Amino acid sequence: MKITVINGTEKHGVTYRLKEIFLDELRSGAEITEFYLPRDCPNFCAGCTVCFRGSQDKCKDAQYVQKIEKAMLEADLLVFTSPAYVFHTTGAMKAMLDHFGYRWMPHRPAAEMFGKRAVIITQCLGAGGTSTAKDIKDSLSWWGVSNISVCSFKLMSEIDWDKIPAKRKDQFAAKLRKTAAKIKRTDLTKPARTSLTTKFKFYAVRMLQTGLGKDDPEYTDFKYWNANGWIGSKRPWKRND
Ligand SMILES: Cc1cc2nc3c(=O)[nH]c(=O)nc-3n(C[C@H](O)[C@H](O)[C@H](O)COP(=O)(O)O)c2cc1C
Repeated sequence: MKITVINGTEKHGVTYRLKEIFLDELRSGAEITEFYLPRDCPNFCAGCTVCFRGSQDKCKDAQYVQKIEKAMLEADLLVFTSPAYVFHTTGAMKAMLDHFGYRWMPHRPAAEMFGKRAVIITQCLGAGGTSTAKDIKDSLSWWGVSNISVCSFKLMSEIDWDKIPAKRKDQFAAKLRKTAAKIKRTDLTKPARTSLTTKFKFYAVRMLQTGLGKDDPEYTDFKYWNANGWIGSKRPWKRND
């Protein structure tokens, strides 16, 4: 099993400890690739839109973005982690996700994403963990990922791991281990089922792309959809078509 982890903070704090508890359940036989932000994708999107226009390899940050993308596309399981920073994901995670705007379904989604499984781990002191997970889930779901589990925790005590009561840590660990156990029972050689919501988004965008292609057959996103056969009868969740 290949696991790619995108850590929204470089700090070895609470978020890191929760992620480690989760990964410890899956380590045996797994090949784990981890990225730490901002270290592994340190720059903001400059809004040049070169990626949207079809040349993501010309992005000033392509060296970082393409390395992360390759690891994500090769993975059987994607793991994203983030503490809540003012009710949202860390700026570093948001900066990384911005670089993948061109992979949103209305543009050029990667077919592989439609069969992926993902786990999002977030935590906050008191409030904001759910909206933090949503920041990440919005991108994943618009990339085409249907199977997304969220483990979101409220510390309600201390933000220093060593000061969090043992009982509370046990509750966190139980939830993380339950999610890991579900993954262990899953046959990861088979792509995840694509949900109706994802299919609905796909068909809505397909209609949009069909119209755009009629107006301009050279339109970048239309050409991509057409080349994949999605304007025709092929679907990204049916690999052997
Ligand atoms: C800049 C900043 C903003 C934060 N904003 C929130 C917040 O909106 N809600 C909350 O409950 N906790 C907030 N926290 C606490 C974090 O979500 C988290 O619990 C804490 O940083 C410990 O996690 P860590 O050790 O992984 O960094 C914030 C922390 C920082 C540093």
